Order: sequence, then C-alpha cells, then structure tokens
Amino acid sequence: MPIPFLDLKAQYRNIKDEIDGKIAEVVASQRFILGEEVQKLEEEVAAYSGARHGVGVSSGSDALIISLMALGIGEGDHVITTPFTFFATAGAVARLRAVPIFCDIEPNGFNLDPMKLEELLNRKLTSKNNARIKAIIPVHLYGQLADMDAINALAELHDLYVVEDAAQAVGSEYTGAQGIKRAGTLGDMGTLSFFPSKNLGAFGDGGMVLTDDTQLAEKLRVLRVHGSQNKYIYQTLGGNFRLDALQAAILRIKLKHLDDWHRGRQRVADGYRSRFQDSGLLESGAVRLPAELYRDRSIAHYHTYHQYVLSVQDRDRLQLHLRDSGIPTAIYYPLGLHLQECFSYLGYKKGDFPQTEIACQEVLALPVYPELTEAQQDQIVEGFRSFYS
Ligand SMILES: Cc1ncc(COP(=O)(O)O)c(C=O)c1O
Repeated sequence: MPIPFLDLKAQYRNIKDEIDGKIAEVVASQRFILGEEVQKLEEEVAAYSGARHGVGVSSGSDALIISLMALGIGEGDHVITTPFTFFATAGAVARLRAVPIFCDIEPNGFNLDPMKLEELLNRKLTSKNNARIKAIIPVHLYGQLADMDAINALAELHDLYVVEDAAQAVGSEYTGAQGIKRAGTLGDMGTLSFFPSKNLGAFGDGGMVLTDDTQLAEKLRVLRVHGSQNKYIYQTLGGNFRLDALQAAILRIKLKHLDDWHRGRQRVADGYRSRFQDSGLLESGAVRLPAELYRDRSIAHYHTYHQYVLSVQDRDRLQLHLRDSGIPTAIYYPLGLHLQECFSYLGYKKGDFPQTEIACQEVLALPVYPELTEAQQDQIVEGFRSFYS
C-alpha cells in the first residue's frame, strides 16, 4: 500500500464530529469575517504560545508582510534572513520594496548561523549600507528554533528588529536567557501560518502575528483592515489581511489537540531514529538524522517535527527508488533563495552560501504525522536499506 506523505483525512476522521458541528454553527450565524471566533482564536493561540497579543491574518505570508509594514519597513530598507526557507520569508521583504540580505545557515539544524550573522553585520558596519539594515527574520525551520539568544544579542547590539518566521514552528520551545519560551515570542513579533499542512492547519489559508507590544498589535489590527481605525476613515495604507471566522472556528478545535499531535510527531521521529540506528546506514554515512539541538534542555516541545528531514547521500536517485517502492518523500528546498531567478537582481551567485547549497543537495523529508504506523515506518526504513545495499 502506498503511504501518504501527509494524511489529513485521517486527522479529520478523528475530529469530524467536533469540526462539522462547529462549521454548521458558523454557517448558521452567517458571520464570516473576523468577529468573535477570530478574537477567541487570537486569545487562545496567544495564550498557548505565551504572547500578550495575537492578530489573526489571511496567511503566514501576509503575517510577514503586515509585521514588516507595522515596523515601518519599506523601500530601500535591508532585512537579513536565511536563503534556506520557503519563498515567502524573503518574498515579504521584496514585496515591500525592501532588500533581502541573505545569511547562511548552521551545518547542524538548518537555521540562521549566528556566527555568520555576526560576520555579516560586522562587514556591513564598515560599509555605508549598514544604516539601512532594519531587521532580522530568523526562521524556525521544520519545527526547531533558531538560536534566538545569539540572534537577539546581535539584534540588540545593532539596534535591529527581530521578526521570527514561526510558520513551521507553532508551539516549539526554546530555553535560554528569557526562560522557556515558545516560537514567535522571542523577538519583537512572530508570524504563524495555518496553511492546511502545518501542524496547526486550517481548511484553507490563515496566519497570525504574535507580539507582546500593545502598540504594535494595535497597528497590526488597523493595517489588516486597509489601514482604517474608524470605519471608512484611513490614516495609513493597509490591506485586506483578514482571517475568516470559519477558519478560526476550525483552528480553535484543532488547537485543543495540538500538543497530542506534537507528541505523536515526536513519537514517529523517535521511531525513525531507532530504526535508522539499527539499519547500519548512520555508520556508513549514507544517512544523517535531524539534529535535536534542544532535547537535553528539559523542554517538552524541543522539536515539533513539522517536517522530519534527513541529510542523505545520492538523494535524487534514492528519492526515485523510494517512490517506486510506494514511499513518498519531499525536498524542502531544492534551491536556495539567493539563486532563484526572481532574486537575480540581488546579485548573489553559486557558492555564496555553502551550507545552504549543501542542504539543497542532501535534504529529504519523510512522512511524519501522528497517524503514521509502526509498520509504515518499517516499510520506509526498509526502502532506504534496499537502496543503499
Ligand atoms: C517558513 C515559512 N514561511 C512562510 C510561510 C508562508 O505561509 P503561508 O503559506 O500561510 O502563506 C510558510 C508556509 O508555507 C513557511 O513554511
């Protein structure tokens, strides 16, 4: 039997009655835009994440755009981020006519490398461009946090805003200078995505911005309705960044299950770990497991495994072999953003970010969701064994 890469139907089956009842309620109310469901979701996700405010918006991409808008970032401003992320992280910067400045990732963990960030900032300090750097967007890729203590220290030193792209990391934890904190609450603002395949996924698009700053939250609320504080009166230019009530109602039900689902994903990750350890493929160097950077720090959500991503040798041939054995995999991401055609005007070239380029050649994501069975995990690891032998 082919294994689904993600089995959202199985998730839905388990909560169908709750969800269907709630959808019927919203439909009966005929109130579809913002309103009580969105407000409650904002309060609940903010409380879950440990933020003072949550502002529901139309997508994770829009959450990034509206956050940068609230900080006044625009034409000619520079924003540092990683080239090893989903397009929207840098796309949001470029959409505002600001300039994405890329910085390479750590060899372990796939997130922004604070040492390279420091080098970049020092280099920029000596150039006239420095005055234009306004913000850093660390991305918590695959569900594990970037090294926020180191990134925040550099941001403070250089007086930069920090907007965490937590699209893949709702609920993921980090412990450091600020104690135990959840993704999206360690910088000035954090953005979440509720794209259906995310750990907390809607039945369509949705997103949220988290912040402790009451003034920023107020700005976000105005920007999300075209910049209008009082009906049909516009002081600033905003847009339609609203979240639907139906999505909010569905997400409120799913949020109650999120910790269980995180544990289910961690269980699958542990299952893969022990199977790969028994397979001999780690010793031979054919397969490298995802690093769990914070597991020994006594936090429950050290990694929430939005994706389970291995580094593997001979990746593309392996992927075809697995596909032929009914094992779906995915590549997040095959090409660094610095080499994308749409960013050619930035002037980057091959070789500029070696760790990103290595990751693009080696990463392979396996199915990871609570409903994945032990037998399916056996089948998947057997697929690897048969390829490398
Ligand atoms: C790292 C990252 N940033 C931003 C986004 C954009 O989120 P959305 O698809 O909700 O616009 C995503 C989601 O795909 C993502 O993975």
